[in-house]
Amino acid sequence: MNAPLPHNPLQRLDEQLAAAQNTTPHIQVTPQSAHIGALIGGVDLKQALSDAEVHTLRSALLRWKVIFFRDQHLSHDEHVAFSRQFGELTLGHPVFGHVDGHPELYSIAKHRKANRHSGQAEQRPWTGWHADVTAAHNPPAASILRGVTIPPYGGDTQWTNLAVAYEALSPALQSFLQTLRGEHRFSPPQGANATAEYLELVRNNTLVSEHPLVTVHPETGEKVLYISPGFLKQINGLHTRESRVLLEFLWEHAVRSDFTVRFKWEPGSIAFWDNRATAHVAPQDIFALEFDRQLYRSTLVGQIPVGADGRASTAIQGDPVLAAHGAAY
Ligand code: SIN
Repeated sequence: MNAPLPHNPLQRLDEQLAAAQNTTPHIQVTPQSAHIGALIGGVDLKQALSDAEVHTLRSALLRWKVIFFRDQHLSHDEHVAFSRQFGELTLGHPVFGHVDGHPELYSIAKHRKANRHSGQAEQRPWTGWHADVTAAHNPPAASILRGVTIPPYGGDTQWTNLAVAYEALSPALQSFLQTLRGEHRFSPPQGANATAEYLELVRNNTLVSEHPLVTVHPETGEKVLYISPGFLKQINGLHTRESRVLLEFLWEHAVRSDFTVRFKWEPGSIAFWDNRATAHVAPQDIFALEFDRQLYRSTLVGQIPVGADGRASTAIQGDPVLAAHGAAY
């Protein structure tokens, strides 16, 4: 991992990526929007990558927050081998388990357990947006999602850049947010009636953590608006109404369309995102379509976040997310 970059993070990230690309001219990095997302070409993910290739992909990830690949028809084993080149892998999912025989993979099927809510969740612009598993003390550093069965239309995923979202706030609000911490927990979406199966899984694997509202990215030094809408339930120290109104503003701000990118999946597509600097939303339109959708996700073990005030996150309930080989499964 690279040392944190103290000044002008974006310029330093551009320079770092340009230098890395000079050593791997066969890899193309094509930005997909102003602030987030780059399509990577010229690399075959079935093959072991050279150190220089890993460095270029990592530099592209840090600069663009989510990188996309096309036509990479990986097996489960190849998915795991590709992911391992970037760090230790977690168990598939700390609450919902993993693919049989592949402890590092989580199945994202159209009707996966996480979606088993009866009743309609309250729909807001930020409904469904989240960073992965921020209820954990050490949320995953990155996620690698592989598309296998993809609908002919619908089913796109969107990501937003939470470092740019932070930068766009006024200095006065930035300073106030730096003093705040919030409680992240697993629980059903607002307004939904969770099934008994879902509730039992969540009860048996309860995860609750307190994270700063503004974190410092451990590799880029960027300040990040750390407000995972699906998990952050309350800003500590504020009255309930103050917390709700401020969170609603921050969530709406964070998913502003100019901070986002939208990816149209194909079989063999891969999306690899920095979970410390982004939030994403799984598509809701697939439930209105008869088509299947099947993806598989691996996640890299993450560190405990640290706030702009230097204070680390606090575990309230549950175990840290361990590497798959260190966990019981
Ligand atoms: C996820 O939330 O990790 C999956 C996103 C998707 O299904 O598009």
